[in-house]
Amino acid sequence: MAPAGSSALATGQPVVELSGIRKVFRQVLAPEARPGLFARLWGRAAGGRDRPDAPAAAAPDVAQNAEAGVEVLSGIDLTIRAGEFVALQGTSGSGKSTLLHLMGLLDSPTSGTYRLLGRDVSHLADDELSRLRNTVLGFVFQSFYLVPYATALENVMLPGMYSGLSQGELRSRGLELLDRVGLADRVNFKPANLSGGQQQRVAMARALLNRPRLILADEPTGQLDSATSADIMRLFAQVNATGTSIVLVTHDEDVAAQAGRLIRIADGRLVSDSGPGAPSVPAPA
Ligand SMILES: Nc1ncnc2c1ncn2[C@@H]1O[C@H](COP(=O)(O)OP(=O)(O)OP(=O)(O)O)[C@@H](O)[C@H]1O
Ligand SMILES: [Mg+2]
Repeated sequence: MAPAGSSALATGQPVVELSGIRKVFRQVLAPEARPGLFARLWGRAAGGRDRPDAPAAAAPDVAQNAEAGVEVLSGIDLTIRAGEFVALQGTSGSGKSTLLHLMGLLDSPTSGTYRLLGRDVSHLADDELSRLRNTVLGFVFQSFYLVPYATALENVMLPGMYSGLSQGELRSRGLELLDRVGLADRVNFKPANLSGGQQQRVAMARALLNRPRLILADEPTGQLDSATSADIMRLFAQVNATGTSIVLVTHDEDVAAQAGRLIRIADGRLVSDSGPGAPSVPAPA
């Protein structure tokens, strides 16, 4: 008989089920002209602002090849189960972020079906997408996306408007999470007064606020040195050990090696998949 615990997680319920997912960008926008992630993620909670430290949006680039569009994902079939830790790798431009954004309900597929926790989310209205995004998903990005004028604690509490908790409850959960990521003594610091690794810890605490079932991380260690990156990976392993699924995009082989399952994408297609793995071994305390 398989040992209890990890095997139960490894055969967990499907969290993400993608089938025949294609994504065609009809309008080719320069990266700086693409819709800001900050507003899509926490826009309402942040008073409708886009990422406050972002430069003003540039005018959309001229649409090239607008009729045909550019096919960025070409038929992705993928199931990720509860408790899995998946690393997603591929060369620049292969479609990793696009796939992560689709899984994160930040963008919708051109065709194909996406079931999140067993529910078809391919055609939900924006309000319902925001609610799901902020209740079952957590996000961590390379560039942290913290609100510069808010304290660490306020940043962590940002997605709280979807939690149904009172301010007091949110505050105590925020404090507990900052303690968990090792920042109990930095709760009132603004991002500019925190190191990169500390800022990413704040972003991780924020991702955990609503007790997500799935964390999506796009190059979360991309701006960190190797020691800080190892600290952040330990945190991911701890979170995964509690049963939360993780999909993490990385260029770094050492980071990818810590995931239980490795998937490679090239030109919008999955080209290799080490297969559903057991969840990572719980990190030492
Ligand atoms: N909103 C958009 N509009 C038009 N084209 C886009 C948009 N977002 C991404 N693309 C294009 O889709 C392709 C895949 O981009 P994506 O950001 O998913 O790549 P990636 O694998 O994450 O690359 P990197 O490793 O550089 O982050 C690229 O050619 C990119 O220019
Ligand atoms: Mg990317």
